[in-house]
Amino acid sequence: MFITFEGIDGSGKSTHIDLLREKLEEEGYHVEVFREPGGTELSEKIRSLLLDSQLDIDPVSELLLFSAARAQLISERVIPLLEEGAVVILDRFYDSTTAYQGYGRSSASLDAIAELNELASHHREPDLTFYLQISLEESKNRTAKLPKDRMEQSGDKFFRKVIEGFEKLASSENRIIAIDASLSLEQVQELIWNRTEQALNQS
Ligand code: TYD
Repeated sequence: MFITFEGIDGSGKSTHIDLLREKLEEEGYHVEVFREPGGTELSEKIRSLLLDSQLDIDPVSELLLFSAARAQLISERVIPLLEEGAVVILDRFYDSTTAYQGYGRSSASLDAIAELNELASHHREPDLTFYLQISLEESKNRTAKLPKDRMEQSGDKFFRKVIEGFEKLASSENRIIAIDASLSLEQVQELIWNRTEQALNQS
């Protein structure tokens, strides 16, 4: 089972991923969690380049670097684990590329990005994607005190386009479950668990 989480910063992805992992482990599943970009030696090195505020990165280079980090993680870790029967959870996947590089930066056409996403994911599609929805205002409130990396320094106009991208994806892809992340932690977790259990029972 392949599960991904998406959403802008402060949407609670990490908290909910930890809670889901715990619950799945209690049920006896082998669970592995990776963050994107990251999760392998090469992908973590690419991550540090991508988030480095001292670097000026061309939008197409940025798109290709996120994709390169992904291709390595999927081939080196995700595919072997899925083949062993593990549940793999990713903190972000190619929907982030569509939202951030496609809608946010307009780095390439959405068709070109869709093709690149197919290539970089080695044609693996998530069984389930949880999109945690929060407004830009709420995101800013929740992350106000945290230091900002290169991506997070992009302005409000950029993030409004990113949100628009996630919303469009969520309304066009059946695998994406949009969840109102302004609900309580317990309510959000319950929604996530119900959908995961349903998918596990069907697989
Ligand atoms: P993330 O690990 O969620 O950041 P944080 O540690 O601050 O929670 O993601 C790193 C940043 O990279 C985030 O700002 C979103 C961005 N990103 C893209 O722009 N495109 C992508 O394809 C991915 C995976 C992430």
